[in-house]
Amino acid sequence: MNVASKFGPAFTLESADATNLDQLRHQAEGCTRCELYKNATQLVFGEGSQKAEIMLVGEQPGDKEDIAGRPFVGPAGRLLDLCLEEAGLDRSRCYVTNAVKHFKFEPRGKRRLHSKPNAGEIQRCSWWLGAEIEIVQPKLVIALGATALYSLLGAKVKLTPERGHILTPANHPPVLVTIHPSFLLRIRESDDADRQRAIFVEDLHKAAQYQGN
Ligand code: URA
Repeated sequence: MNVASKFGPAFTLESADATNLDQLRHQAEGCTRCELYKNATQLVFGEGSQKAEIMLVGEQPGDKEDIAGRPFVGPAGRLLDLCLEEAGLDRSRCYVTNAVKHFKFEPRGKRRLHSKPNAGEIQRCSWWLGAEIEIVQPKLVIALGATALYSLLGAKVKLTPERGHILTPANHPPVLVTIHPSFLLRIRESDDADRQRAIFVEDLHKAAQYQGN
């Protein structure tokens, strides 16, 4: 389905101006576009080849990513790696990033509990995501969950009805819509978790045709 009509003509992903990822990362490291930089340990920028055919977009770094300074290295990342492999995708050939580049959390004693980024934070951070897309020019972007989808395509495109579809908006690489792997980690009933995981792998498998040999 072509979803361009859902955006209206004014929808554009505003973005930073840089000619390569190193330059962009350097700019992003000084980001004060929202308040999240104040409490996070560091910026967690995307990683992977500037020539990647597939770009994976998550929500925001978690506790482990905030400390490591790399995206998807915690529990959700480990599950994502397994599912990518099952789907026939090579993570090392993808570009992996997040809609929001600083960890947002609520302190609870010694723990830091993930807190969802709000619309303003997502919009401000799309400045960096838009530039990552401009520079990498992936053949396919995989939106992992509602925050990534919102950042990429705006508020009118909803995850549930579009799940598993590859959307082809005007002036934008195609977007494969799927869930965030942390959704699978929250399912308590094991049959349901297995079923949902299989659907996630099926979704990811649709991207395999975009990763040439
Ligand atoms: N969840 C995300 O969305 N991104 C990460 O990098 C880690 C967990």
